[in-house]
Amino acid sequence: MAGPRAATARRSRPLLSACSATAGALLLPFMVAAAPTAAAAPRCDSTEDCLAQMTLEEKAGQMTQVNHTDVMDDTDAVAEYGLGSLLSGGGAGPDGDAGGTAAEWADMYDDYQRAAMQSRLGIPLIYGVDAVHGHNNVEGATVFPHNIGLGATRNPELVRRAQNVTRHEVLGTGIDWNFAPAVSVPRDDRWGRTYEGFGEVPRLARTMGSASITGLQGHDLDSESVAATAKHYVADGGTAWGTGEGDYAIDQGDARMSERELRRIHLRPYRAAVRADVASVMVSFSSWDGLKIHQHEYLVDDVLKGELGYDGVVISDWAGVRQVEGGSYAEKLRASINAGLDMIMVPDDYEQNIDAIVGEVRAGRISEERIDDAVRRILDLKFDQELFDKPFTDRSYTGDVGSAEHRAVAREAVAQSQVLLKNDDVLPLSPDSGKDIVVGGKTADDLGYQMGGWSISWQGSGGDTTEGTTLWEAVQRETDGTDTEARFVGTDTGQDFSGDVGIWVGGETPYAEGIGDDGDLALSEADSEQLGDICAKTDVCIAMLVSGRPMIINEELETADAFVASWLPGTEGAGMTDVLFGHERFHGRLPVTWPSSVDQEPINRGDGQNPLFRLGYGLRH
Ligand code: GLC
Repeated sequence: MAGPRAATARRSRPLLSACSATAGALLLPFMVAAAPTAAAAPRCDSTEDCLAQMTLEEKAGQMTQVNHTDVMDDTDAVAEYGLGSLLSGGGAGPDGDAGGTAAEWADMYDDYQRAAMQSRLGIPLIYGVDAVHGHNNVEGATVFPHNIGLGATRNPELVRRAQNVTRHEVLGTGIDWNFAPAVSVPRDDRWGRTYEGFGEVPRLARTMGSASITGLQGHDLDSESVAATAKHYVADGGTAWGTGEGDYAIDQGDARMSERELRRIHLRPYRAAVRADVASVMVSFSSWDGLKIHQHEYLVDDVLKGELGYDGVVISDWAGVRQVEGGSYAEKLRASINAGLDMIMVPDDYEQNIDAIVGEVRAGRISEERIDDAVRRILDLKFDQELFDKPFTDRSYTGDVGSAEHRAVAREAVAQSQVLLKNDDVLPLSPDSGKDIVVGGKTADDLGYQMGGWSISWQGSGGDTTEGTTLWEAVQRETDGTDTEARFVGTDTGQDFSGDVGIWVGGETPYAEGIGDDGDLALSEADSEQLGDICAKTDVCIAMLVSGRPMIINEELETADAFVASWLPGTEGAGMTDVLFGHERFHGRLPVTWPSSVDQEPINRGDGQNPLFRLGYGLRH
C-alpha cells in the first residue's frame, strides 16, 4: 500500500504560526485596506481552517477548473465564483492564441492570481498547462524530444534532468501544475498519442514516469515544485481500433481486456507514480469494457484511491464529464464526482458546473463528505506548494527560459534518443572529410515538423514557430570552415545535383490526440520519391525518419545505406548531428516493436508476430 505523499508535506503549513494568528487577524483588515494595489492576503491559513469557513458554493468553485480564455475578458469571475484552478489548453497563450513569451505568460499568471485572491477567503489559484516535452506552449522555451524518444534513451536520470529543466522553465512563467507525464502504455502504434508514451511495456512508463515526476516536483512538494500529473488513468493506450470516440478511430476508445491484463500492463505505472508522490492523476477519456473511466467508481475510488492509497488530486480530462453516460450535465457530473473525481476540467461553463455540484449536494445525491474530501485534496496541494505564502511568479526563473544550459540538456536527450536501424559502413561521418553532403526532405529544415504536436499550438505546425536548430542548420554548423561542402535541396530533389553523402529527413507532419490516429503508417509518396532521388544522386545516403511512432519503411530501408529513427526531437537538432558526425555514439534502443506491415498492428513484444525490428533493437557505432 503506497503511503501518503511525504508526510511532512501533507499537513498544510499554517500560514501564520498559532501565536501570531491573533496579531495577524488584528492587522489583516488594515493591511488589506492600506495596500489595495497589493494582492489581498488569504483569509484562511490551513486546509481545515479554509474548509471550516467555506460555503458549499465556494467548495464547488474550488473543484472547478476553467480554460483561461473563458475568463480573460471577465477576470472578476475568478474571484466572484472562487474558481480553484485555471488552465491553458494546448496553445492557449496569454492573448488567447498560440505563443507568447515567458514574461507574457508570467504576467498573465500573476494577473489571474491577483484576481483570484480578491475572493472572500483569498484562496490562490493553481494553474495547469501541458508542458509535455518542455514548456512547449511558450515561445523561446526549450522543447525536448517527445516521450517516445525519451523512452529510446533508456536513461531515467537524463529524463529526470530534462524534467527538472522543464520545471525551471514552467516556474519562470508562474505556472504550478503540469499535466505530465503521460504514463500511457501504447499497444497499437496507429494511436495518435503513441508518441506521448515512453514505450509499449509498463517498465518504461514506470521508470521514465517516476523520473519525470521527481524532475518536476523534486523530492518534496514546495514552492520550487511544479505539480506533476500521471495520465491518463487507466489503459488509455490499450483501446481497440475502431472503438474511438466520435470521428477518432482508436483515441478515447474502449480497452477490452481482462482485469488481469489491465493490471499487468496499464495499472503498474500508476503504482509507481503513487509511490513517487505524484501530485495529481488525470483520468482517461477512454473506457474499460464499455464503461467510461470518468465514471468508473471501481477503478478510480476503489483501486486508485483505496487499493493504491492515492491521496492526491484526481482531475477530469478536457470536458471529459460530458462524455459520461447519463442524461443532464448534473447527472453526468454526479457520476464522475461520486466515482472519485476531485477537480473538474470543465473547461468553459463554470457556472453550470458550480450550480450542478451545489444542486446535487443539496438534493443529497453527492455527499458533503465527498465534496470536503475533494476540496481537502485540492487545498492540501495548494498549501504543499506554498501558494498561500508565495502566490506569484518567481521572476528569478523567467530569464532562464530557453537558456543555452537548458538547451544543452535537450541536445543530449536528442542524441541519446536516436536509434540506428541500419548502417552499411556509412556512419559516423567526418565533418572535415572533404566529402560533399547534400541535405533534403520536407523535415530537414522545418523546426515545426521536428517538434511535432503539442508545440506552440495544440496540433503543432510546420515552420519556424519558435527558437531552435533544424537538422540542416546543425549540418551547416558542423561543416562550416571545413573542406566539406554542404548543400540544401529541400524537397526539390528532382533538380540536378550530386554528392558524396546524401541526408534525407522526412516522416510525419505534426498532429495531436485522435487527429493523429492513422490506419496506414505509410510514408507519403513525396517522401519516398525524395528519398529515392537523394539516394540515386549521391554515393551513399542516410535516411532520418522524424515521426511519433514506427512507420512502414520496408522499401526505404532497402534504398538507404543508413537509417535512423529520430522520433520527434524538438528544438535541438544538433543532437541529431552529434551522432551522425560521431561526437556521440548511437545509444538509442527501440521503445516499441517495429512492424513490417500495418496489418500486424497491434504488435508488441511476445505476441508471436515477426516484426521488422524487435523492441530494444538499436545498432551502435
Ligand atoms: C487534452 C488531453 C490531455 C490534456 C488536456 C488539457 O484533451 O487529453 O492530455 O492534459 O486536454 O489540455
